[in-house]
Amino acid sequence: MLKKLIKLFFPPILLDAIIKIKKKLNKKKYVQRPSKQELDLYYNPEMAKILDEWGERNAWIEIQHLLHGKKTNILDIACGTGKVIEILKKNNESQIFGCDISELLISKCIERGIDSNKLKICDATNLPYKENEFDYCYSIGSLEHFTEDGIIKFLESSKRVTKFEGFHMIPVSKSNKDEGWINNYQSYFNNSPRWWIDLCKKIYSDVKIIDSTWEDEISTGKWLILKK
Ligand SMILES: C[S@@+](CC[C@H](N)C(=O)[O-])C[C@H]1O[C@@H](n2cnc3c(N)ncnc32)[C@H](O)[C@@H]1O
Repeated sequence: MLKKLIKLFFPPILLDAIIKIKKKLNKKKYVQRPSKQELDLYYNPEMAKILDEWGERNAWIEIQHLLHGKKTNILDIACGTGKVIEILKKNNESQIFGCDISELLISKCIERGIDSNKLKICDATNLPYKENEFDYCYSIGSLEHFTEDGIIKFLESSKRVTKFEGFHMIPVSKSNKDEGWINNYQSYFNNSPRWWIDLCKKIYSDVKIIDSTWEDEISTGKWLILKK
């Protein structure tokens, strides 16, 4: 009855407009520009358990291929619980160092036997290492959790401490659109490959992007390969 009355008094064009506005309001979870990162999650032991497994079948296999045969020193930026460092150490003769903002996650690295002298608690937007201290660096599932300004600082900082190349695995939107900042249990950018390439090109002139096999409902993985 109420619906019939509404239809009678509101012309279809007005109803259409109301429906569109309602849809836009429902998309509130896409906030385009966060002013700060949400980091509380990375101090939660339950999250540490998830971080111990998530990339086993995809991203963590791929980084072994990307770094295969290298015998040098490498930095894992935002290394989480250190699971990837542990995996790499099995088949790679490199010295692998790690850093992360979360004391809890760095303590998990130490618990699994990674030398504490090779670990640092720090913000990746301002890495406390010397210029060209590492030949290569990588990050996995991390860059997308930084603000836009943070991503630029992360890339500048990692470029400064790395001599040759950086490998950074990120999710991009399956829609190929810049969907912006998603507030799920983790907050992150779900944007197009073009958005990422343009951002990286502000810092690196040689930017390549290749597929990762990681995916979920709304995103698919990519590796950014950034050469100095
Ligand atoms: C999704 S986890 C990925 C961890 C790890 N790379 C892996 O493959 O499991 C994102 C990581 O980024 C770290 N992180 C977030 N913001 C950071 C910052 N500003 N500086 C350094 N690490 C940060 C978190 O503590 C967390 O370990």
